[in-house]
Amino acid sequence: MRVGVLGTGKMGTGLGRQFAQAGHEVFMGSRDADKGKSAGAALGGSGGTYAEAAAHGDVVLLTTPWTAVEETLSAAGGLEGKVLVDVTNPFGEEGLNEFPGSSAAQEVARMAPGAKVVKGWNHIFSAIANSTPSFGAVPATVFLAGDDAEAKATVATLARDAGYDPVDAGPLASAKLVEAAAGLVIGLAYDQKLGTDIALLLARR
Ligand SMILES: NC(=O)c1ccc[n+]([C@@H]2O[C@H](COP(=O)([O-])OP(=O)(O)OC[C@H]3O[C@@H](n4cnc5c(N)ncnc54)[C@H](OP(=O)(O)O)[C@@H]3O)[C@@H](O)[C@H]2O)c1
Repeated sequence: MRVGVLGTGKMGTGLGRQFAQAGHEVFMGSRDADKGKSAGAALGGSGGTYAEAAAHGDVVLLTTPWTAVEETLSAAGGLEGKVLVDVTNPFGEEGLNEFPGSSAAQEVARMAPGAKVVKGWNHIFSAIANSTPSFGAVPATVFLAGDDAEAKATVATLARDAGYDPVDAGPLASAKLVEAAAGLVIGLAYDQKLGTDIALLLARR
């Protein structure tokens, strides 16, 4: 699969590396083309600008701070027809933004017309993205919310290839629940002092 990553921070490089190690063609996109190139080379892929990453990817990962999402999507250019994975948590200047009747992912969909938006990995700590999704024999769960079944299946394959356990969490309107899951793990990590080497696991029978 061709994967373009928007942002060369902790989540972008961690997930980029995990997808590259799973055999996918990863292109790291940055505001600074040279930074993108070295980030791509460091994980066995390639890199450059946001627009190049968006053009490269059948799947494009949005891994920038919430406050930069609008300018990132605008720099990425047309994302029509692309699968756009929204990894963001909507932290603003005064804490977590709330979207009554909506969610960060639905706002991303509004800002990227024609993209098939799938929410995912926002509740996975960068510590996991930069190490392994395996907890012993058990893989970390990634909840995926999106309206396009094919896009969600594509992202689920990517997740499985990288060692995660993807779970379909329903339509994009359910992204608010997946976003709330991040609030839960952040509280567990910091307020309850469990640290960030934790993940949610869905048990099935
Ligand atoms: N850290 C976590 O554990 C975690 C877990 C789940 C989800 N998230 C979410 O994932 C997103 C990325 O988090 P992160 O921890 O990877 O952040 P990070 O390490 O700060 O990286 C964010 C990247 O976004 C790019 N960027 C574009 N515009 C920016 C701006 N105005 N200011 C700063 N960076 C900008 C930068 O890449 P270039 O310089 O290459 O453009 C930067 O390296 C956030 O929305 C966060 O809420 C984080």
